[in-house]
Order: sequence, then C-alpha cells, then structure tokens
Amino acid sequence: MNTHTRKLSTSHRSVDEITGSRRMRRMRKADWSRRLVQENKLTVDDLIWPIFVIDGTNRREEIAAMPGVFRMTLDLAVKEAEGAARLGIPAIATFPNVEMSLRDQTGSHILDPDNIINRATRAIKAAVPEIGIITDAALDPFTSHGHDGILREGIIVNDETVAQLAAAAVGQAAAGADIIGPSDMMDGRIGAIRDALDANGFQDVAIMSYATKFASAFYGPYREAVGTAGLLKGDKKTYYIDHANSDEAVREAEQDVLEGADMLMVKPGLPYLDIIRRLKDELRMPTFAYQVSGEYSMIRAAAANGWIDGERAMLESLLAFKRAGCDGILTYFAPQVAALLKS
Ligand code: PBG
Repeated sequence: MNTHTRKLSTSHRSVDEITGSRRMRRMRKADWSRRLVQENKLTVDDLIWPIFVIDGTNRREEIAAMPGVFRMTLDLAVKEAEGAARLGIPAIATFPNVEMSLRDQTGSHILDPDNIINRATRAIKAAVPEIGIITDAALDPFTSHGHDGILREGIIVNDETVAQLAAAAVGQAAAGADIIGPSDMMDGRIGAIRDALDANGFQDVAIMSYATKFASAFYGPYREAVGTAGLLKGDKKTYYIDHANSDEAVREAEQDVLEGADMLMVKPGLPYLDIIRRLKDELRMPTFAYQVSGEYSMIRAAAANGWIDGERAMLESLLAFKRAGCDGILTYFAPQVAALLKS
C-alpha cells in the first residue's frame, strides 16, 4: 500500500483513556470557573503613563504616527495628570519635544534647571503630589543629532555622557522627580547616577534602569513625537543591545542591579517577553516593560482598519506582560485602560 491510498487508522482508545480523565476544558466551561482559575490580572496599579510635553499654553499637537497621543503644553499636562491620578494610575513618565534652537551637540540644555522636563515635574508635583513622576535621563531630545549621548567624531563618548547624565539626574531630582529612568544605555550610568543622587541628598529618589534596551525598529513613532526622527543619522547599535541577544541582556541587567538600580525595565515590550521572564526568574527585581510607540501604533493602525478589535488586543497585550513576569507596564494606553478597568 502506498501512502496515497492507505487509510489513516483512527485510535481505538476513548478520549478518557487518552487523557487519563484529565480534561482541560472542564474549568473553561463557564465564565465563573474561568475567573476562578485565572492566574494573572491587569489592574490600574500596573500602569505607568508616558506623556509628551511642549512649551506654550493650552495647546496639544497631534502625533501622526500615534493616533490618540498628543504633545501637550504644561497647563494641559497638569490637567491630564490630575485625571490620571483620579483614575488611580500610579505614575507618569515625561518626555519632551524641545525647541530646535535649544538642541546642541552635547545636549547641554538637559542641565538647565528650567528646561521643559524640570518645569513639568514642578508643575505636576505642585498640582498632583500623589502621582509618581519618572524622568528620563537621556540626551536624545536635547541633542542636535538625536543620539542619547555626546557625539564626537562619529563616536558616542561614554564617560563624558555619564557625567552629564548624573548631573542631569540631580537636577531632575531637585525639581521633584521620584524616579530617574535613564534610557541611554551608557556603561556605568546607573552607578554614577546613584552616587550623584546620594551625594546631593537624594537617597530616596529611585532608579528605574532601562536595563535591557534593544536596538529596535519599534521606536519609530516616538522619534516623531520628540522630534528626533529627522535629526538622527546612523543608528544606535553601538550602545543599545543587539536584539539577537538574550544572555547579554541578563548580564546588562545584572550589572545595573550591582550598580544600584531599584527597578529594571525591558524595552520594547511584546517582542521581548522572553527577556522579561528571564530577568524576573534570574534577578527577582521589580520588573517593568515599555510597550513602546511602535507597538502602540501597530495596534491602533490595525484597529483603525477594522482588522483587529483594538480594545481586546490592547488588554491582551498588557496582560501578556503580567504573565511574562512584569510588575508594571509603561504604556500609551494607560488612561484608556484605566478608564476601561474602572467601568
Ligand atoms: C531614547 C528613547 C527612546 C524611547 C524613549 N527614549 C528610543 C529611541 O528614540 O531610540 C522610545 C519610546 C517609544 O518608542 O515609545 N532615549
């Protein structure tokens, strides 16, 4: 008999004999039993909301690649922060779109106590003291070339950048930031920032290390949001992690813990769930994911085309982070999810 004419023989055993009477569907049969055995939950306590701030008053600018996300002037950002606090969102992360005339080769404006980020922190803290504020100590919104560090003869100079970031972190803490989140991936920046904070009396300001930040295509829409898309030449491969690597990511995170990180972050999020799980299992730190701009935009774009149910995809993607081991998620969906979870 050749394989084309041979009939497939079906099993003579009953399903009970095959499964040993262990039937996985029993607990899936009703809503109540599914709820009872559900292992992970998404709550408002898991959410950190990244926002984009600009100078001016009473103005919001659309970000074409991020429908539903706006750059906001500080008066509006304060109102949004009040709304976020009312929804129970624990923390906000601020990112600036800095006027081009203030950007330079070394990103020196990050050191200005009155730059837009420090003013945002002071304004939000004054109006909504109960919400946590996370500031990014990275140079990219402040440099004329869009890189996260000081650029000299085609090289991102590590140690000089670290010194500048540490000084910037002190300025951010002085403005009232609760957590410094360095997203630059320079070597030694966590330890340097920790030392500088401590030396200036900011022992209680925490560090959320963007520990495993991968060189990724998913940051595209963010670069439009902060105005670095048109500036950036080349890529960030000499400082972000190669997305092919997993052991290296664990070593990088381990190093940040040794230097004094209080929390770890994996970025981007959904394509890196394996990294989240490894960090949680191996380092047992408070672990966060950044569902980055490109991830947000993909869900929004597919939903806008009617190709997926946007709300369900949003919730499913966020719950996936919890399942992978996250304690929380930075997500542009934060206010939308918080409102949904409340209703
Ligand atoms: C750079 C920085 C990036 C993001 C936040 N800060 C990446 C980049 O531009 O290379 C990405 C955030 C997002 O995509 O949502 N320090």
